[in-house]
Amino acid sequence: MLEPIIEVKNLTKTYKAAQKKFRQKTSYIHAVKNINFQVLPGESFGIVGESGSGKSTIAHLIMGINKVTEGEIIFRGRNIAQLSRGGEREICRNLQIVFQDPYSSLNPKKSIEWTLTEPLIIHSIGTKASRKEKVIEVLEEVGLGESYLKKKPHELSGGQRQRIAIASALILEPEVIVIDEGVSALDVSIQASILNLLNELKEKHKLTYIFISHDLNVVQYFCDKIAVVYLGDLIELFQTEEFHQEEHAEYTKKLFNAIPDVSFTSRTS
Ligand SMILES: Nc1ncnc2c1ncn2[C@@H]1O[C@H](COP(=O)(O)OP(=O)(O)O)[C@@H](O)[C@H]1O
Ligand SMILES: [Mg+2]
Repeated sequence: MLEPIIEVKNLTKTYKAAQKKFRQKTSYIHAVKNINFQVLPGESFGIVGESGSGKSTIAHLIMGINKVTEGEIIFRGRNIAQLSRGGEREICRNLQIVFQDPYSSLNPKKSIEWTLTEPLIIHSIGTKASRKEKVIEVLEEVGLGESYLKKKPHELSGGQRQRIAIASALILEPEVIVIDEGVSALDVSIQASILNLLNELKEKHKLTYIFISHDLNVVQYFCDKIAVVYLGDLIELFQTEEFHQEEHAEYTKKLFNAIPDVSFTSRTS
């Protein structure tokens, strides 16, 4: 049996809601409640659900961007739920994230070279010369190249910016990349090229993906397994290829029925 690379046990995140009125009793938002799942090495594990269902919360908890309220996140056999991101460098390196909007994750004032070199400096990797070599190598891997070194984010298209975001996740040679709505802001044809790139990189670097999207069409096309979340609950989990052989929750059926007739694959061919 393959050991999971990531296992989430009873994962719960509760936020304090903003108080609307003076002296109002504090209320809580259960962004995610008792979530359990396992991700196997080499898998593209999909998390799908409507906006507000808790997907980004799960991503941020796994990444250590937000603090876990309760539960465990086991990464390679070790519970990392309570470890701080800053203090645990090896773990930071092994888990990377790509956000929906590279505008918010790329510094608008800095060159692409700066953006891609920064993680190497933070982790004290290489010399000045070897870092530059690595940056160029990664730029080529994401289908760009040396000519992008001096460019700033505003000089790039949405798809190119997303390639830079992928390059900056890739440069630390992680084992797992969390992709939170990573293609949602892009046109369908660009989405397809980014998904193809992600698949190539996955093969080449033996990556594991946790792929988050509100778009079931994309998740169905891209992922081996799909976890459906609704209002903070994981309501079901299935192998993508077995979807049609199983009974599903009403919510999942509704999500699937909302998919237009034209499938993602045929739109991109
Ligand atoms: N920092 C926060 N403070 C309070 N509530 C939050 C915070 N972040 C998310 N939430 C709430 O948690 C729920 C899940 O949000 P989120 O994980 O962003 O969902 P999704 O990514 O699926 O759209 C929502 O109700 C959202 O309003
Ligand atoms: Mg989100």
